Amino acid sequence: MFGKILVPVDGSAAALRAVNYARGVAEKFESAVTLLHVIEHPGYLSADINKLPTSVIQDMDQNGEQILAEALEIFADFDGRVSTKLEYGHAGIKITDLSKEHSYSLIVMGRRGLSGVKQLLMGSVSNYVLHYAQCPTLIIKGEK
Ligand SMILES: Nc1ncnc2c1ncn2[C@@H]1O[C@H](COP(=O)(O)OP(=O)(O)OP(=O)(O)O)[C@@H](O)[C@H]1O
Ligand SMILES: [Mg+2]
Repeated sequence: MFGKILVPVDGSAAALRAVNYARGVAEKFESAVTLLHVIEHPGYLSADINKLPTSVIQDMDQNGEQILAEALEIFADFDGRVSTKLEYGHAGIKITDLSKEHSYSLIVMGRRGLSGVKQLLMGSVSNYVLHYAQCPTLIIKGEK
């Protein structure tokens, strides 16, 4: 059970809470964990990303790597398998596609993310994944 856990992160406190939670589940079930960040810049959603200046791409990649490094810190001294993955595109689609392609048994993610729209109960990415992912999906609640 829960052999492979996918944990999507966006640099928000809510996502880090989900990472913490995922660590607990992984310790209990001896799961392999993948921390995933999807770069959602509109340039990556268009057909021709080559039109973007190299410096813009480098900045986005660097920011993504930083988000993953911060999440990875929560797994310091983790006695198991943990890896990171940087992808490009629509976050919801990437998360659900990857979880299917690589047969993840569980997705653990935040209820909200970086956006400040307080009226929303759930962010669009978590909402999308909850609707379309084929594996069990755990949405970690927090004060935001
Ligand atoms: N680009 C991303 N890459 C990976 N995971 C993400 C990404 N964006 C969001 N997530 C995951 O989805 C969770 C919910 O974030 P979401 O983006 O849905 O909410 P929000 O930012 O508050 O609202 P919205 O983006 O819809 O305006 C995050 O805690 C994180 O786990
Ligand atoms: Mg968001």
